[in-house]
Amino acid sequence: MPGALPPVATPNSRAGCTRRVTSRLRRMGRVLITGASSGIGAALARRLAAPGHELVLTARRQHELDAVAADVRRSGGSARVIAADLRDDDSVDGLVASLSAAPDAVVCNAGLSIARSAAEQVGRHHDLERSMRVTFLGHSRLVLGLLPAMAARGSGHVVGVPTVNARMPVPGWGAYCASKAAMDGWLRAIGPELRRDSIDVSVVELGLVRTPMSAPTYGDRPPFSESAADAAARIERVLRRPRPLVSPAWARAGSTLTAAAPALSARLIGLGSLRRRR
Ligand SMILES: NC(=O)c1ccc[n+]([C@@H]2O[C@H](COP(=O)([O-])OP(=O)(O)OC[C@H]3O[C@@H](n4cnc5c(N)ncnc54)[C@H](OP(=O)(O)O)[C@@H]3O)[C@@H](O)[C@H]2O)c1
Repeated sequence: MPGALPPVATPNSRAGCTRRVTSRLRRMGRVLITGASSGIGAALARRLAAPGHELVLTARRQHELDAVAADVRRSGGSARVIAADLRDDDSVDGLVASLSAAPDAVVCNAGLSIARSAAEQVGRHHDLERSMRVTFLGHSRLVLGLLPAMAARGSGHVVGVPTVNARMPVPGWGAYCASKAAMDGWLRAIGPELRRDSIDVSVVELGLVRTPMSAPTYGDRPPFSESAADAAARIERVLRRPRPLVSPAWARAGSTLTAAAPALSARLIGLGSLRRRR
């Protein structure tokens, strides 16, 4: 439904502000979660498992999604599984088409972590492409597919789950940081535009979380990490009360340092990152 979105609002427009206040506490009946087969996405699905919530769970692995959906139903919630590959445009379009109505919220949580030095990236440009496809292009295609229906309804909430390293790039994680920075920047750019349609955009930047993604690099219990359940709780709070940016205080300070003293911060972040790897 191209062109269904009303004209762009300025962030300070009176109408936009009024609607913003009334939409602070979000209804979150139907929530679409990407990357729901594992880690934070699966923990979020289990956390939201309650009567009144209709979850749509997506990722590539059907079997894992089915197991999460079964847990949700056992807890009294409702879950529908739609397997889709965010790297594949047709698959994303199919996911959008198979929804009977736009969800109240979409949590763009799926991600792909690739740890490679610059030298290791030589000859492997496809790593950057697949990283961008999953994290940024797949999610942006999904969100753009849902926006017209959200705008027509006059409500919606888009939640992105990048990493604190979107604004504090870490040596050795170029493809990952670039894809997360793309998502972070895009969501925070469109957020003010969408207020006029009463569509909220929230960005939740996470630090290190203990999941199958982080375990191969950092082990099972790395210091200064949180559980997937705690990360899911953070996302749930944002689902209830949209916020443009949620980020740990240390990460806000770190991103300020990154902007103010890039050489120093790159050295500190690089050292810290190597020390935490096992
Ligand atoms: N763990 C951390 O320390 C940490 C820190 C900051 C931010 N994050 C972010 O949090 C999010 C969740 O990560 P996690 O730690 O829970 O990792 P995870 O357990 O590896 O989960 C990643 C999820 O993404 C899905 N996914 C990957 N490629 C996909 C594709 N092509 N199409 C559709 N889905 C795909 C996976 O499902 P399938 O394999 O079934 O497709 C899986 O459900 C990610 O965006 C990650 O970058 C994680």
